Amino acid sequence: MLVRQELSYYRTPLLRLPSLERLFARGDSKIYAKYEGVNPTGTHKDRAAALHVQRALEGGFRVLTAGTCGNFGVSLAYYSRMVGAKAVIFVPRRYTLERMADLRRYGAQLVFVDGSYEDAVEKSVRAASDNGWYDANPGSSNTSVNFEAYSALAYEIAWELGDPPTTVALPVGNGTTLAGVHMGFKRLKDLGYIESVPRMIGVTTVHGNSAIDSFLSGRDSAVPTPSVKETKYNEPLVSMISFDGDAALRALRESGGGALRVPDRVMLGHSRLLRELEGIDVLPASASVVEALRSLDGGTHVLVFTSRWHLP
Ligand SMILES: Cc1ncc(COP(=O)(O)O)c(C=O)c1O
Repeated sequence: MLVRQELSYYRTPLLRLPSLERLFARGDSKIYAKYEGVNPTGTHKDRAAALHVQRALEGGFRVLTAGTCGNFGVSLAYYSRMVGAKAVIFVPRRYTLERMADLRRYGAQLVFVDGSYEDAVEKSVRAASDNGWYDANPGSSNTSVNFEAYSALAYEIAWELGDPPTTVALPVGNGTTLAGVHMGFKRLKDLGYIESVPRMIGVTTVHGNSAIDSFLSGRDSAVPTPSVKETKYNEPLVSMISFDGDAALRALRESGGGALRVPDRVMLGHSRLLRELEGIDVLPASASVVEALRSLDGGTHVLVFTSRWHLP
């Protein structure tokens, strides 16, 4: 039996961003990047996929499935292949996935679905139940695995800083990552390792995200956003139904956090800024979190850059 370490994602670096500090910092505040782009397939989804594959093996499954628009599917295919398991990935047909080549490279079995990302997830969940496959979908029976995996981001940040940061800003699609990171900090506080939980800031697209739109309109739970528009840059963030929207909403409220919506041109601008000033390549949707710095006061701020930029 493989042990978790053998399926590991990388312990990612926490980088101080001196040039961004000169541009955005108030007083003596410090700005850090938690850079997930060094993960084997380039995104933080490796953390969740590695743990799902581990759980699947422990449960005796040889086939895993998920509906995806890209990054998570690539991670799941990569880790499944590593252990000789099969990943059946449901993909919305109309999407031109930049990561299709990676899905094929890692041997995913692709099932094209007419409809949206949400339809792909639904079909995958049904296929898991009909065929006895491991269900790695967000919002499904194994979704706590995602929270578990992303909580490690909090442990790594707190460990490296020594103290909890004042704020942590993350890009939001389904809300899973934000909720998982918040869970990690809460756990550290409950165990007495840190004294306070950072404010969580969720950043998403202006073109529709159920979790953030619901939060900003003062709702207690996430409701579907009726109309969304996918663009070349906002795909990981745009979301009619955020599968872990309620958990993300709770994390934002409990932490006294905030949220903002960012247009594509701003995401792209921040991505270029990070390349030019700090020498790091960040997917525009991930670079969107830089926008949070405009509204932050003094303190230590961590920006979670969930993905490197996969040049087409
Ligand atoms: C690179 C990247 N960043 C952020 C997100 C959003 O994460 P979540 O869906 O957990 O909110 C995704 C989701 O696909 C992603 O691929």
